[in-house]
Amino acid sequence: MAQIIDGKLIAKNLQKNIRKQVEQYVAQGLRKPGLSVILVGNDPASQIYVRNKGRACEKAGFKSTIYRLAADIAKEDLLDLIFELNQDSAVDGILCQLPLPKHLPKQEVIEAIDPAKDVDGFHPVNSGRLFSGIESLLPCTAAGIIRMLKSIDYQFTGKKALVIGRSNIVGKPTAILLLNENCTVTIAHSKTQNLAELSRQADLLITSAGKENFITPEFTNPEQIIIDVSINRNATGKVVGDVDFAAVEPLVRAITPVPGGVGPMTIAVLLENTLVAYRNHLEKK
Ligand code: GUN
Repeated sequence: MAQIIDGKLIAKNLQKNIRKQVEQYVAQGLRKPGLSVILVGNDPASQIYVRNKGRACEKAGFKSTIYRLAADIAKEDLLDLIFELNQDSAVDGILCQLPLPKHLPKQEVIEAIDPAKDVDGFHPVNSGRLFSGIESLLPCTAAGIIRMLKSIDYQFTGKKALVIGRSNIVGKPTAILLLNENCTVTIAHSKTQNLAELSRQADLLITSAGKENFITPEFTNPEQIIIDVSINRNATGKVVGDVDFAAVEPLVRAITPVPGGVGPMTIAVLLENTLVAYRNHLEKK
């Protein structure tokens, strides 16, 4: 039986701590941290994520504003909104939910956000700082994974980590953070050969393949820790990760559930990033 890493609980504690800090700032007469979330179009998963982010903000005592924009919004109008939010002194964090409709240039939108307000950590200034090992706003899911592992006292140094997935949102930043923690890191992707064999050798497996039942017993070893990042919907509409959980859970040392694993950590780190941006913002004035 594996240890089940309870992301929901770890995130809850983190959020409580954030809320306390916000209460202290407000008690000193300071304004609340402000997060602006932009949602373009009607992607059902994005709608749920954005709603959850808004709720978490309210609970933490932040001021959150959600901008729901039509799927056919012109690029210029979206960029105008971002520039307005960049200038707004009550806004500490700006997040534009991805994916965007096809006609909108994702990279241009990401780069329009003031790096100091980029609570997603996606702006090249922030990813460049991460790459260089300089303090920065970190991509929330990647930072959440590290937080989770630290909260179970995971000893990273010298461990073999396999990261499946090379996205800018999850795979690449997670790999860099693991490297910073002294892991020996392999990044695998759809063209990787002999993936199961590679995975069997890994002490730590981080998977964001986005494929139900992708991780089967042949990917595991008894000392392995598995972090399942994916959120897939199976044929019956149930939310599942990449791991064939029933088959794999008895065979490894520790594993995250889906839901209730990485997802809540992503939101907790978003709040933390917003609080960091808020503090930096106050100090600058
Ligand atoms: N889409 C999926 N994950 C994320 C995320 O962490 N941030 C944003 N902005 N969009 C996403």
